[in-house]
Amino acid sequence: MEKNKQYNLAVVGATGAVGREMIKMLEIRQFPVKSIKFFASSHSVGKKLKFNNKEIRVELLDKNSGQDIDIALFSAGAKISKIFAPYFVSKNCYVIDNSSAWRMDSNVPLIVPEVNSNFLNKKNKLIANPNCSTIQMVVVLKPIYDITKIKRIIVSTYQAVSGAGQTGIKELSEQINAWSNGKKLVNDKFQYQIAFNLIPHIDVFTDNGYTKEEMKMVNETKKILNDDNIQISATCVRVPVFRAHSESVWIETEKNLDLKQIKNVLSKSVGVCLIDNPKLNKYPMPIIAENKQNTFVGRLRKDISINKNNALTFWIVSDNLLKGAALNAVQIAEKLVSMNLV
Ligand SMILES: NC(=O)c1ccc[n+]([C@@H]2O[C@H](COP(=O)([O-])OP(=O)(O)OC[C@H]3O[C@@H](n4cnc5c(N)ncnc54)[C@H](OP(=O)(O)O)[C@@H]3O)[C@@H](O)[C@H]2O)c1
Repeated sequence: MEKNKQYNLAVVGATGAVGREMIKMLEIRQFPVKSIKFFASSHSVGKKLKFNNKEIRVELLDKNSGQDIDIALFSAGAKISKIFAPYFVSKNCYVIDNSSAWRMDSNVPLIVPEVNSNFLNKKNKLIANPNCSTIQMVVVLKPIYDITKIKRIIVSTYQAVSGAGQTGIKELSEQINAWSNGKKLVNDKFQYQIAFNLIPHIDVFTDNGYTKEEMKMVNETKKILNDDNIQISATCVRVPVFRAHSESVWIETEKNLDLKQIKNVLSKSVGVCLIDNPKLNKYPMPIIAENKQNTFVGRLRKDISINKNNALTFWIVSDNLLKGAALNAVQIAEKLVSMNLV
């Protein structure tokens, strides 16, 4: 790594739920920023956002916005990424894209730094950040996978409303306020009332009965772990939590498992925090994970429903706006720097 080198950055979708966290992560992690530009829709142009105590004006995104930018963090949805990411790349800029637009493109590395940063290179300037639920799951699965191959995964998610952006957060707040004041609860962003409810439906349904969100977990996990043979089934549920997604995960492995060894390995894994002490009622929860950079895992136990020693079940919680989005993107940018790729 070149000492003291600084970089020209851009955040596209800077006013969004993820974009704002990207800005915070760049500040908190002291990314070596020479200059930074913020882009959003026409509706935000002229707004000012702070970066390291300096006010920066939000600009309108256009074809030439990538000029003289080294790394652009995109978080403005798939449509915008499809159109504008290639323009940025054509200006020799790295794009780290948070949307689903490019994740399954075979020319686009899909990166979780703790798992597969070896796929970063100078040639593929467009890099995809995986889906939030996938990221937190693979961060925990990788250390286990390194002990024994994983054959099958069954996962159910409990996803916070911030996963649906600023409008998701607003809708839950407004419904709670309306309920507290005896008023009618209005839903617009979600299919049904989300306050005091659970909605087993995130993104659109596909022909096989799974939702797109569920299929993202299936396909992205295989790509990140570089193993097409893993069998995966996911059920994704929206829950009335503001921040941090939870997951109940069941895995079947090739070799027999030693629970003590798995706990020991997870307790030492980068980015993972093991909270697993049932006697003291200690386990991960969204209120523990919100605003934290780690992914939390607990409730580890051998499965009692099959007569073999190779199935495990556990509970993962992580802040969807941080490790599930902004933090992972900034960590990818940090890797580009430490690997001398930028
Ligand atoms: N929320 C999560 O937990 C999460 C996790 C992983 C990935 N993601 C992905 O990250 C992306 C953003 O999500 P979010 O939750 O931050 O959504 P959000 O809160 O709705 O923010 C969307 C951002 O995109 C900007 N935008 C919209 N249209 C634009 C345009 N025409 N040109 C430039 N900017 C435009 C918005 O600007 P205005 O404010 O001006 O409208 C805003 O800054 C999505 O692709 C999402 O799937 C989200």
